[in-house]
Amino acid sequence: MFAGVGTKKEIKAKEHEYGHANRSWVFFDRKDLIVSKTNLKGHLTYANDIFIEIAGYTEEEVIGQPHNMIRHPDMPRCVFKLLWDTIQTGTEIFAYVMNMTKNGDHYWVLAHVTPSYDASGSLVGYHSTRRVPNPNTISNIIVPLYADLSSIERSTSSAKDGMQASFDKLIETLNEKETEYDEFVSSLARAA
Ligand SMILES: Cc1cc2nc3c(=O)[nH]c(=O)nc-3n(C[C@H](O)[C@H](O)[C@H](O)COP(=O)(O)O)c2cc1C
Repeated sequence: MFAGVGTKKEIKAKEHEYGHANRSWVFFDRKDLIVSKTNLKGHLTYANDIFIEIAGYTEEEVIGQPHNMIRHPDMPRCVFKLLWDTIQTGTEIFAYVMNMTKNGDHYWVLAHVTPSYDASGSLVGYHSTRRVPNPNTISNIIVPLYADLSSIERSTSSAKDGMQASFDKLIETLNEKETEYDEFVSSLARAA
């Protein structure tokens, strides 16, 4: 695992690539998995050591907190709407997510979020496993798409209207590609 490690040149190159020249890009190893679990409300009940290390918090600071504690402000809200709409029906989802560390750095992940059930089959919470995404997929496809969605969200006077407009845009974009978000993400991940 290496978070924020690399030569200065490498980190600068990453910052340039991701268009966040004023912030640091935190990157982690391909073999690493960032894992967290939540209750039904999305409050953290478990975070593995890699989650803790990359996010820059202590375990005590994380457990019991809402998962949006690592939310990056540049993430479009409609992606989280889609995530919650999907997992609440008991369905898994793959999603590209940019998160923010305690000190304001950011890191991109390819997240696989799944519902968790108890022995009697009741939905009791959610589980997320995140891998390092392909950098070209992020910079060529996801960054422009999310920037577009975020700008739609910011351009309306009410947050609710903005979310609906960006959600519509996301669905329209996927329809044009004759796919759904999950399939779109899986196909990108497979191609990477
Ligand atoms: C298992 C699970 C994992 C999640 N992982 C993240 C994550 O890595 N980053 C993130 O910003 N939100 C994550 N979320 C979504 C958050 O709960 C929340 O919807 C999101 O941060 C948007 O917050 P907001 O609605 O307050 O803007 C996760 C939710 C669940 C259930």
